[in-house]
Amino acid sequence: MHFNKIKYTTSLFCLVIAGFFTVSSCTHEPDKVEIKVLEPLPPCDANKVYFVNDVMPYINSTCAVPGCHDNKGPAAYIDLSSYDAIMNSKVRGVSIIKPGDPLNSKICRVFFLLDLVPMPPPFNYGIPPQGRDNIIKWVQDSARNTACEGRCDTVNYTFRRNIGPLINKYCTGCHYGNYNSGNVLLSSYREIKAMVDSNKLYQSITATEGVLKMPTGVVSMQPCEIIQIRKWIEDGAPNN
Ligand code: HEC
Repeated sequence: MHFNKIKYTTSLFCLVIAGFFTVSSCTHEPDKVEIKVLEPLPPCDANKVYFVNDVMPYINSTCAVPGCHDNKGPAAYIDLSSYDAIMNSKVRGVSIIKPGDPLNSKICRVFFLLDLVPMPPPFNYGIPPQGRDNIIKWVQDSARNTACEGRCDTVNYTFRRNIGPLINKYCTGCHYGNYNSGNVLLSSYREIKAMVDSNKLYQSITATEGVLKMPTGVVSMQPCEIIQIRKWIEDGAPNN
């Protein structure tokens, strides 16, 4: 009896082991994923305009904003929320971008009232002149999806020269006047400093401590820009 029990247990054990090997030999080896090696980013050339660094942040904060040209029911079906969306956008069948030809690209014509429809509309936040110039130069330079590394100095910076323009580029369009998303305003030093004091400026650009990631959309600040803002806050966020 006792011997039988051992035999029974042993054969049960063998069965389980055999079963395990059968099952594991049946499980599929995952198909090998081929990793596409990206070209290393070039260092930023001061005389060039790059889509990711110099163009999309402005479009994201002044055009692809909620209620306008974001991807949730975009105005006039013109979705400007990503590179692909921008390149696929058409007005009456004509692409809004004609690489190399800003004068025949709707995305540039709207800045100069060439079609009598100004964009952004008069009561919205106007696109900063730097953003407008960058978009025109980018279209002129063939409108490719380019990016570069290191467009900022994390040692020498001031509010007026660097931090203010950064907030203007990435944030103000959605946080200005009546368009004060989330009741947050970011159009002057006083308003930006208030956001620093409430511990939400750095937390929003790094999506930490439960604060929503900013800016919304496909754009994120570049790592060196985040470091610059962090260091400026550590310095006491001076109005220099
Ligand atoms: C495309 C529009 C858009 C841009 C650009 C944008 N924001 Fe916002 N922001 C919003 C909206 C919408 C909300 C409100 C979100 C909610 O409450 O659901 C918000 C909310 C916030 C809040 C409050 C978040 C919280 O969790 O309390 C902060 C702080 C903020 N934004 C800072 C910024 C900063 C800093 C930038 C630039 C780096 C920026 N935003 C850029 C749309 C934008």
